[in-house]
Amino acid sequence: MKTTYLGLELSSPVIVSSSPYTATVPQLEQCARHGAGAAVLKSIFEEQILHQAEALGRHSDSTYGDADLYLQRYLGDDYKTRFLELIRSARTKTDLPLIASINCVGTGDVWIEYAEAMAEAGASALELNIFFHPTDPRDEAGALERRYTEIVAKVVSAVRIPVSVKLPRRLTNVYNVAQTLWARGARGAVLYNRFFEPDVDVERLAFVEGSPYSDASELRNLLRTSAIFTSVLPQLDLSVSTGVHDGEAVVKTLLCGARAAQICTAIHLSGFEVIEQMNQYVDQWAARHGFRSIEEFRGRLNFREDPSPLCQRVQYMRYFPNTDELHEL
Ligand SMILES: Cc1cc2nc3c(=O)[nH]c(=O)nc-3n(C[C@H](O)[C@H](O)[C@H](O)COP(=O)(O)O)c2cc1C
Repeated sequence: MKTTYLGLELSSPVIVSSSPYTATVPQLEQCARHGAGAAVLKSIFEEQILHQAEALGRHSDSTYGDADLYLQRYLGDDYKTRFLELIRSARTKTDLPLIASINCVGTGDVWIEYAEAMAEAGASALELNIFFHPTDPRDEAGALERRYTEIVAKVVSAVRIPVSVKLPRRLTNVYNVAQTLWARGARGAVLYNRFFEPDVDVERLAFVEGSPYSDASELRNLLRTSAIFTSVLPQLDLSVSTGVHDGEAVVKTLLCGARAAQICTAIHLSGFEVIEQMNQYVDQWAARHGFRSIEEFRGRLNFREDPSPLCQRVQYMRYFPNTDELHEL
C-alpha cells in the first residue's frame, strides 16, 4: 500500500532505517527487491571524522599548528566521498527513494556542505540524527534544544530536498521541540532514535557492550506519543522507529498517525524477507477491514477524539479499588 512521507510517494509504509542494513549498494537493492518504501542510509558521523583526525593527530609529528585541521579536512573528504559514491551508485541500480542520514553534533558549516553534496548525489531527503548527551548539570534543557533548531535551520536553508529529524527519547516536551523544528523548516520527524546503551559486567566491574537490538515491546512506549504527536502536529510527517518487528506493529503505527514505520531489528531477526511479510500483513489487514488506502485509516486512534482513558492515563492509579473498572485496567 502506498504512503506519502516527506512529500515523497512511497510504494510501502515500511522503511529500512539507518543501520548496517543500508550501508552498501547490494543491501539497498535487497531493500528494493523485498518491497521497502524507502531506505535511510547508514549515518555519516561527524564524531567519527573528528575522532579519526584526533587519533592521527596524536601520532603525527607535524610541527605545523594546523595539522589537525588538515587531517580533519582530508579524512572528512575521504569519508564523505564514500557516502556520496554509495548514493550515486545505488541511484543507478534502484529506484528506491534514498534518505541520507547525517549525525551532527556541531553547528559548524561543514555539515551544510555535506548536506548539499548528498542532495546533489541523488538523496531524495535528509534525516538528521542529532543528540547531545548531557553530562554537565549546568547545561539547561532549553539551551540544548536550541542547538537542534540551529542545526536544522542551517541545513534546511542550504538544501531543496525535505529534511526530517530523528529525535531522541529524552526530551521533556517532544511536541514543543518538534513544533520549533517545523517552524525552522523541518518537514518530518522520526520517533525515536535508539542509542547505544552500555551494560555493566559485575564481575569485571566495567562497562561492556549491550545488545543494540530492540525488543518488540518497546513499540508500546511510542504508540500514545505518536497518536498525540499527529493530533497536535499534523503538519509534520511522522515515522516511527523502535520495536516495529512485524506487520501488526506497522498497522499500529499507522493507526496512531505515522506515515511510515522504520525497521532495523526486524531485519536482523528475520532477514530482508520480513519487509514482504509486513507489506502482506498490511494489505490483508486493510482488506479485512474494508480500507482501500492507508489514508482511510491512518490516525484513526486520534488523541483528541479518543474518549478512552487508556490513551490519556499515564499513572497506574488505584482510586476505586475493587471496582470492575479497575480489574479491566
Ligand atoms: C547496529 C545498529 C546501527 C545503527 N546505526 C544507526 C545510524 O547510523 N544512524 C541512525 O540514525 N540510527 C542507527 N541505528 C538505529 C536504528 O536506525 C533504529 O532507529 C533502532 O535500531 C530502532 O529500531 P528497531 O527497533 O527497528 O531496531 C542503528 C541501530 C543498530 C542496531
